[in-house]
Amino acid sequence: MKKRAKFSSKLGIVLASAGSAVGLGNVWRFPTEVGEGGGAAFILVYAFCVLLLGLPLMVAEFIIGRHTHKNTADAYRQLAPRSGWIVQGYLGVFTSWFILCYYSVVAGWTMKYLVEAATGGLGSISDSSAYFSAFSGATWEPLVYMVIVMLLCHFVIIHGVQAGIERSSKLMMPLLLMIIAILVVFSFSMPGSSEGLTFLLKPDFSKLTSAVVLSAMGQAFFSLSIAMGCLCTYASYFTDDVRLPKTAFSVAIIDSIVAIMSGLIMFPAVFSVEAVTPDAGPGLVFITLPNVFHIAFGSVPVLGWFFSVMFYLLLLLAALTSMVSIHEPPTVFLIEHFKLSRPVATAIVTIACIVVGSLCCLSFGPLADCRPLFGLTFFDFFDFVSAKLFLPIGGILISLFVGWRLDRDIIVEQLTNGGTVRLPAFIISVFLFLLRWMIPLAVGGIFIKELGIL
Ligand code: PHE
Repeated sequence: MKKRAKFSSKLGIVLASAGSAVGLGNVWRFPTEVGEGGGAAFILVYAFCVLLLGLPLMVAEFIIGRHTHKNTADAYRQLAPRSGWIVQGYLGVFTSWFILCYYSVVAGWTMKYLVEAATGGLGSISDSSAYFSAFSGATWEPLVYMVIVMLLCHFVIIHGVQAGIERSSKLMMPLLLMIIAILVVFSFSMPGSSEGLTFLLKPDFSKLTSAVVLSAMGQAFFSLSIAMGCLCTYASYFTDDVRLPKTAFSVAIIDSIVAIMSGLIMFPAVFSVEAVTPDAGPGLVFITLPNVFHIAFGSVPVLGWFFSVMFYLLLLLAALTSMVSIHEPPTVFLIEHFKLSRPVATAIVTIACIVVGSLCCLSFGPLADCRPLFGLTFFDFFDFVSAKLFLPIGGILISLFVGWRLDRDIIVEQLTNGGTVRLPAFIISVFLFLLRWMIPLAVGGIFIKELGIL
């Protein structure tokens, strides 16, 4: 049998996993939520969520992946044969593909904006809101951009673990981190930027409602790519000397730094331009910011050009490394489960995603009124099902599985790398307590609340 692929270095492992975590969620969702959720007060709650809920779940997924060295579906089959837990493995594989279908639409938008920024088109837009609606609501252009980013992702995945995922992460992630550092400095140098900083960082504990706390939890999960099958899949390529808790910690730190820095880029820039009120979500990135670029750099166009090209390049890189991480779980599942070659498996996943993703893409235009499922457009349906249903359900199942069902010896072996790394016993107890009780209860809370069951 052919030897299974592995990442070649610890740096590659951290960068690939961080590449999965750092995505569109960091750049647009996090800053908006901070702004709305009481600035530093939100950041504090978010940090607790990452530490107490996100990190243990990430380590739990790493344990399953590295112990089995299998794709997510077969990993659960090996650990809990002939049991209902197998469903969780399939859910992971399926969720990845499902997210890819709509994530690629937004990634396509970022590419369009990068092209527009680079060719100077962005500077001449006078009504950025109308421009965005016209573009996203068109038929062919957004589709073409979606297909292009899917093909880029395809190109990475087809080259496999080391030559594809690891190499591209080693190239894209340092570039991304560099761009973000340049942009922070740039944003701060804009006049009036301190107001934006105040908006972002001033702690306002009165805004910390339970809804805000719950959204901090949801954001922590989405941002760390938890319960999507990708952490488990990447961990199946980890070498045996990698320290799982340390790796998870590094990924969480990088992810959080990028999220905070994105806020530091966006709000000072937005506030340096009077008359622009920040939109939430995609509007912030595709409507408010083009406006900012337009107004702020009207007198020095070359700076506007530079800032906007760098910004959309940052977004595209962040989106691409995340797309790669959700393309791989279904691909390796097809390779190992159905004995397909990598090129064939990659092509199946890409084509299936383009076909279904087209529905999501067109749901901003020609298919806007086509709402066969729960009265939602295709895009909203995919977003809702994955973020609001699969993510919490997956999170609960993973924590219960590793907390209650998985053999304690396996957990200890994975956490200590077969006994070669010392780990105080109480850390393992805390880890198990969080997985057994705290996470299922907390995530169950989000789930019930978000669905409005209670
Ligand atoms: N973590 C990514 C982000 O913050 C999103 C993502 C979700 C990536 C699931 C992979 C899997 O945008």
